[in-house]
Amino acid sequence: METSVVASLVSKSFGHGNHRVQALDGVSLRIGRGELFGIIGPDGSGKTTLFRILASLMLPDKGRAYIEDFDTVSQYRDIRKIIGYMPGRFSLYQDLSVEENLKFFATLFGSDIEKSYPNIRPIYRYLEPFKTRKAGKLSGGMKQKLALCCALIHNPKVLLLDEPTTGVDPVSRLEFWEMLDLLKAQGITVIASTPYMNEAMRCQRLCFLQNGKVVGCDTPENIRKAFPFKVFSVKSADKFRLLGDLRNFPACHACYPFGAYHHFYYKEGTIRMEELESYLASLQHEEIKIKESEPTIEDCFMELMSQGGEHGN
Ligand SMILES: Nc1ncnc2c1ncn2[C@@H]1O[C@H](COP(=O)(O)OP(=O)(O)OP(=O)(O)O)[C@@H](O)[C@H]1O
Ligand SMILES: [Mg+2]
Repeated sequence: METSVVASLVSKSFGHGNHRVQALDGVSLRIGRGELFGIIGPDGSGKTTLFRILASLMLPDKGRAYIEDFDTVSQYRDIRKIIGYMPGRFSLYQDLSVEENLKFFATLFGSDIEKSYPNIRPIYRYLEPFKTRKAGKLSGGMKQKLALCCALIHNPKVLLLDEPTTGVDPVSRLEFWEMLDLLKAQGITVIASTPYMNEAMRCQRLCFLQNGKVVGCDTPENIRKAFPFKVFSVKSADKFRLLGDLRNFPACHACYPFGAYHHFYYKEGTIRMEELESYLASLQHEEIKIKESEPTIEDCFMELMSQGGEHGN
């Protein structure tokens, strides 16, 4: 795959002295043309900072980043013509209508809606019935589709989408990711951050950021295969007490709540299901249910996070 986006040892800090925050710490990535690449990481891990640097809106302290071979610092003018950027918070003009927002963004790039229509048609068809409605009056899912249209209006080669679906209803989120698949199929490089693991799974590759470092970067499948533990999903009537009791079990590597069940990680061969069950029964747990589970991306994420970034690449 040809390279579309490169970050090479990018670092960025904010503040001074004791108040200094290392937002990015030696981040290196290589993203292929037409790749759908996901960035995940907890709050404050540096995702937005990375997007801003890639979008040429912020200077790195150290390191370099390139979009389609253009340097984000010295060639920012070229970069801005070929990227579409959707910042986390909406970039739309709330008092302008759908159509006016599109016209505004088209004009910024010396284009017009008619010329751009082929780029945005699959998405715009959802919006067309509301074209006279003010952006501020659209639903969350509609706003985000409009923001995507605005980011696409100049036919960019690379799309940078910072948590585009956060806070949006599940149906709109699904539709949004279907659109990203379409864009990917057109050869557009899409880099998106998301807090939703089912969205992360749709990416061809994923990078985990923690404390400004890349602690893992691979296909969702490889990330899951590399998970070094077995998983039991466990529940009982008293979920809260259960978590502590599971964590106290000697063979427990780690245990985290995942919806109705807790995920209990253990090394293969160190424990049998019946042993865990009788341990929990001895502690008067009721309605105990234990099943073996495949590790999810979220399990891998929790495990990478708990390693504190020591195994980054
Ligand atoms: N302009 C700024 N001034 C000072 N500190 C900043 C600034 N921008 C980001 N930071 C700090 O840098 C770190 C990384 O922030 P960033 O916004 O990149 O993280 P994030 O992964 O996008 O977080 P979130 O998931 O909350 O959006 C945080 O500790 C944040 O407080
Ligand atoms: Mg952010």
